[in-house]
Amino acid sequence: MAINPPVDATKTPAWSALQQHFNDLQNEGIDLRAWFAQDPERTSKLSFEAGDLHFDLSKNLIKPETLDLFAQLAKDVKLDERIKQMYGGVHINNTEDRAVLHTALRRPVEDEGKYIVDGQDVVKDVRETLDRIYAFAEKVRSGEWTGVTGKKIETVVNIGIGGSDLGPVMAYEALKPYADAGISARYISNIDPNDLAEKTKGLDPETTLFIIVSKTFTTLETLTNAREAKAWLLEELRSQHAIDESDEKSAEAIKKHFIAVSTALDKVEAFGIDPQNAFGFWNWVGGRYSVESAVGTSLVIVFGPARFEEFLHGFHEIDEYFATTPFEKNVVALLGLMNVWYVNFFGAHSHAVLPYDQYLHRFAAYLQQLTMESNGKSVRWDGTPVTTQTGEIFWGEPGTNGQHAFYQLIHQGTRLIPADFIAFANTPNPVKDGDQDVHELFLANYFAQTKALAFGKTAEEVRAEGTAEAIVPARVFTGNRPTTSILGEALTPFALGELIALYEHITFVEGTVWGLDSYDQWGVELGKVLAKQITPAISQDDEALAQQDQSTQGLINFYRSHRL
Ligand code: F6P
Repeated sequence: MAINPPVDATKTPAWSALQQHFNDLQNEGIDLRAWFAQDPERTSKLSFEAGDLHFDLSKNLIKPETLDLFAQLAKDVKLDERIKQMYGGVHINNTEDRAVLHTALRRPVEDEGKYIVDGQDVVKDVRETLDRIYAFAEKVRSGEWTGVTGKKIETVVNIGIGGSDLGPVMAYEALKPYADAGISARYISNIDPNDLAEKTKGLDPETTLFIIVSKTFTTLETLTNAREAKAWLLEELRSQHAIDESDEKSAEAIKKHFIAVSTALDKVEAFGIDPQNAFGFWNWVGGRYSVESAVGTSLVIVFGPARFEEFLHGFHEIDEYFATTPFEKNVVALLGLMNVWYVNFFGAHSHAVLPYDQYLHRFAAYLQQLTMESNGKSVRWDGTPVTTQTGEIFWGEPGTNGQHAFYQLIHQGTRLIPADFIAFANTPNPVKDGDQDVHELFLANYFAQTKALAFGKTAEEVRAEGTAEAIVPARVFTGNRPTTSILGEALTPFALGELIALYEHITFVEGTVWGLDSYDQWGVELGKVLAKQITPAISQDDEALAQQDQSTQGLINFYRSHRL
């Protein structure tokens, strides 16, 4: 089915209404203190539940009526039609002529037979693959699957990059308390040899299982690291006399210690991995939307199939909510629309994501690929230029660490930085410091920060503390710095699935307003091609060097003359 050209959001009635509303708010004066004082129900009007997550939008630069304008914008850009197209398998990734069906990866078994896309029973295929992964993972977890010398696997090493790394490593770190089979994971992504060198340190080759994860199975970094890992494994096993030098034993070792995940299973076999030990997925799963596909095999092994199912249920909960809740009340859509509000009306350049949970310490890195590879674009899905700014920079670190680093800029800098604060009511590590529950001490910071950012501190309040007049200005907090608070009961596999789906759909909503194909990534190609061209110029080929531009020549000459 052909897709319509994007609606130019900036030409819609809702956009004009939002512009008028923005002007009105500026004229009235944006003042969260006053807005809260005027409306005792502001928080309840601007709070939402989705799945088991609670959202408080009241400390944002919006009024309750702003939400109606957001919803109108969603309607004007035909977000509902685009959601139907995405969930229905229309090729909305039109520059690659692909469906975008990550939501099908988390559909329940009951949807088998009900969901046929391009003649394919998508859910059936998904479940069949999951069943194979689950069966394999159970063997590894129970010790039925062993390394070549008969020892139980204790470490899985995921080799992949981008979407084949960031999702799994983020989720592994997030869910560590749920690891229950005595198996840990490591993640190698960078082609910088330092990554593999450090991640293989102290590893026992006899108890290590490598998972080579690459959607295309052509990615330079992953294939290079996979070859290095093969060499490492054989060398270590031989040097420990765990295997002899024969080709048969090497092949057996590779078979027992290497599995693969890819959409290109023919390439997996050519690489020397037994196709029996390979798990597929489909080209309608974008790399950065793939953690809940076979790409998450390391997670299934470490946490087990039951936990992985909970993870999938969390995604599905938000998928259903997003697709069925009217936009006026649909917090997932509203958060995407509010991001547009900040980027296009307030001129925000970036968006901070600040989890108050150390287990989410890779969440911002994961979100960077999700959001910026999706919406960092200057042309729309019909090839025409965008009509407004797109793609804010997502960044962040867990609190409270960030408080002692970059929060200064959020509190008192000149830039407006909308921020999402994420926290959970319970911790798997309850600790007391004397009588003080440390998790509560931690959460006090979570609550305090959004309060400080919203309401600030006036010069009068600073003076009232006896501050010397000369330093009063430096100690004033203007307030009116927007934040969204997201709270859950606990960081479970279910909650993590919800959070990921939330940001996937936020990204989709923003992309739809801006008219983007959020599912291609042509912007990463040129650098890959040039790296290939430059490789021969680096060490020996003077002719190749002469073909480079003067800056690149200068840099390579410096490299050549300094290489020891
Ligand atoms: O270079 C970007 C990219 O294509 C990402 O979109 C993708 O997640 C990553 O590379 C890894 O690709 P693959 O899984 O095919 O190795």
